[in-house]
Amino acid sequence: MDLEREYLLQNYARYPLVLTHGKGTYVYDIEGRRYLDFITGIGVNALGHAHPRILKVLRKQAGLLIHASNLYYHQYQGPLAKRLAAMSGLARVFFSNTGTESVEGALKMARSHGRAIHADKCEIISLENSFHGRTLGALSVTGQPKYRADFEPLVPGVRFVPANDIAALEAAFSSQTAGIIVELIQGEGGINPLTHEYAAKARGLADRYNALLIADETQCGVGRPGTYFAYQRAAPVILPDVVVAAKPLACGLPLGFILANEKAAAAIKPGMHGTTFGGGPLTCRVSLEFLDILDELLPAIRRVGGYFKDSLEALARKHSFVKEVRGCGLMLGVELAIPGKQFVLDAMAEGMLINCTHDTVLRFLPPYIVTEKEVDRAVRILRKLFRKVK
Ligand SMILES: Cc1ncc(COP(=O)(O)O)c(C=O)c1O
Repeated sequence: MDLEREYLLQNYARYPLVLTHGKGTYVYDIEGRRYLDFITGIGVNALGHAHPRILKVLRKQAGLLIHASNLYYHQYQGPLAKRLAAMSGLARVFFSNTGTESVEGALKMARSHGRAIHADKCEIISLENSFHGRTLGALSVTGQPKYRADFEPLVPGVRFVPANDIAALEAAFSSQTAGIIVELIQGEGGINPLTHEYAAKARGLADRYNALLIADETQCGVGRPGTYFAYQRAAPVILPDVVVAAKPLACGLPLGFILANEKAAAAIKPGMHGTTFGGGPLTCRVSLEFLDILDELLPAIRRVGGYFKDSLEALARKHSFVKEVRGCGLMLGVELAIPGKQFVLDAMAEGMLINCTHDTVLRFLPPYIVTEKEVDRAVRILRKLFRKVK
């Protein structure tokens, strides 16, 4: 901690906890204390810690080839791309490393798609309260002034509209719209789902104006909602033109992707985009193993997620300072009428890791292997903390 204080950029407000290892849904600190991990490195450690099947392929591939660059082929990008295409209903994949990098690529795709039609067709519509990452392009479409203010001017041509306001959405679209980017469940913004009607309207308007509908599923996708992707939750499925994701994809190793239909993919021609690290053999092989395991876990994600939500709602009914429980699958938020930070600290003292977003929303992103018993334990801790509130 002292070294970090002396040598690191002081951009993080870390909790005073030094983690050393984990097993399943639990993680341990340097003093050997055990914590129920209900935040999973902000939705990354999808299979918890030290999953035996992940460890096995990780060890094997690490001894063979970790990185190859995109100068050459390796055995795992093609099969992983095929798998993701089948899961998503989209045609082509670009592999990246992080959420923000995936968003950057998707924005370039929308810009290039628009420019091929008309030089002025370069606007992006995004939602207020959204979060799309920390690089300049992704920040430009992040609808929260607190993240943007210090870096203005950002990329021009972005229009923000309030989520779930259909009239405002209709008014924002024009022949200059190149794309619209949405989180189907806003994560950092406080676990706010978009309505099916709103998503359908965005699809319809994107079609009418020949703009790309981009779903940022960095936080809400790849199994977390109990389906592969959040846009598959409701029928009829509203298929985006482009989907970006990252967090859980390689169980803790950095891997992200852009999935695109043929129309969107055609906007990126040879030499127009690239990455040194993205889609290496180690991350791709781990991801293939993860997706095999995910297929087995999807019913449990829905079941345990539903059980967790019911339990949180029952708890909410007993406490007037709890305003709402939102989310689905294993992406849940509890909005409070009071600040949430102290609950995060108190939960830690009780042996549970959670997080608070948007000041008043307790956020739960447990691993996909979580059980009803572990949910009971988490809810017991919350009950104890909630009872202390006067
Ligand atoms: C919806 C969404 N998009 C993009 C990002 C940025 O991802 P990363 O931190 O991997 O760059 C996040 C991170 O939380 C996110 O929730």
